[in-house]
Amino acid sequence: MNLTEKDKLYNWHPYTQHQTAQDFPAIIKGKGALLWDENGKEYIDAIASWWVNPFGHSNPIIADAIYKQLTTLEHVLFGGFTHDKAVHLAEKLMEILPSNQKKIFYSDNGSTAVEIAIKSALQYNYNKGIKKTKIIAFEDAFHGDTFGAMAASGISFFTEAFKGSLLEVVRIPVPTSGNEEKSFQVLEELVATNEYAAFIFEPLVLGAAGMIMYEPENLDKLITICKKNDVFTIADEVMTGFGKTGKTFACDYLQQQPDMMCLSKALTGGTIPMAITTFSQEIFDGFMSDDVNKALFHGHTFTANPTGCAAALASIELLQTKEIRQNLQTINNSHLAFEAQIKTHPKVKTTRVLGVIFALEIKTRNEETYYGTMRNKLYNFFIENGIILRPVGNIIYILPPYIITQNQLQKVYQTIEKALEIV
Ligand SMILES: Cc1ncc(COP(=O)(O)O)c(C=O)c1O
Repeated sequence: MNLTEKDKLYNWHPYTQHQTAQDFPAIIKGKGALLWDENGKEYIDAIASWWVNPFGHSNPIIADAIYKQLTTLEHVLFGGFTHDKAVHLAEKLMEILPSNQKKIFYSDNGSTAVEIAIKSALQYNYNKGIKKTKIIAFEDAFHGDTFGAMAASGISFFTEAFKGSLLEVVRIPVPTSGNEEKSFQVLEELVATNEYAAFIFEPLVLGAAGMIMYEPENLDKLITICKKNDVFTIADEVMTGFGKTGKTFACDYLQQQPDMMCLSKALTGGTIPMAITTFSQEIFDGFMSDDVNKALFHGHTFTANPTGCAAALASIELLQTKEIRQNLQTINNSHLAFEAQIKTHPKVKTTRVLGVIFALEIKTRNEETYYGTMRNKLYNFFIENGIILRPVGNIIYILPPYIITQNQLQKVYQTIEKALEIV
């Protein structure tokens, strides 16, 4: 039996209907933007393995930092102890985060980063005896799959089975072109009720919804409305963080600053699972008390894992190199050139680009579902052609590692053009 066959015997994969799923290639090696399966087939990882891998697979600099850490201090509990890497990483983040972010809370993945932000917003009010128990989020948002994060997520089929067991979350339209006023108006109405602890959002790009983009000034307006009405704002930068939008954080495009931020995915360069929730001083101070019960009673066994912190430090250093900054610009220029060429294609409905993110919507007669026929046809076509892209319904998007070569990127574009012929 090969790996693919053995995998089928034992493993249950994410977001997978195993009754109808095809065999999954077994990847045994990665280098740069490339992956190879057990049969020697090569793939270009054009979505950086779910947006985690900016500096290429098996990056030697990050690997070296991890090895050194593993052979110095692989792990130590963070309850009652601290360690050099957690301190240095926090210090480093203070240099690059919006200036109002003052405290770092470590966890394991994007969903837990979101859980911690939501719990903090709720408990901050509870500690002060204020009854604010609801959250505001965008329609079609995605914030993860644990219960709080799932409640905040608006993609219905992800959460349908759990309706009734979820925290109360009310949604506002995303302020895309033409929807701005409606979005502001609904938010104004909600915050006026004084029932909401926080507004959580994916800043500038809703990733899982299909790279839906909206303008910074509209987010500034939404944050301003929240600030005037004592509603905390949570920027979920799990997808957008660490260069994806062209700046270090999507929030760097804003005039306003959020009260909390959620970071994960590219944080460790796609190596060790780790996440961070960051806080303003005001929120942290809301947990200061002589009463121990007012503390944030949240933690995970691997909180602030030193090896993860070492990987994150090495990653951030790479992000700040001239070479990577240049690559972000080069990829953006290539995307814009491809966009100019492809947007007049008769099958293309619309295109959008921000930073290293490119998205293209295909014209359809019927509404295409998230994992529908068109999506599956496209996905299989890309895999056959050695390109890893995961379309969302009729939306094809690229989010490559920042070290992808021009040749590889051009091959991705050409394969997308060919794919338009089969739909
Ligand atoms: C914006 C955003 N938040 C949270 C998450 C959840 O992260 P994780 O899958 O690491 O739990 C994701 C995952 O795609 C995401 O895109």
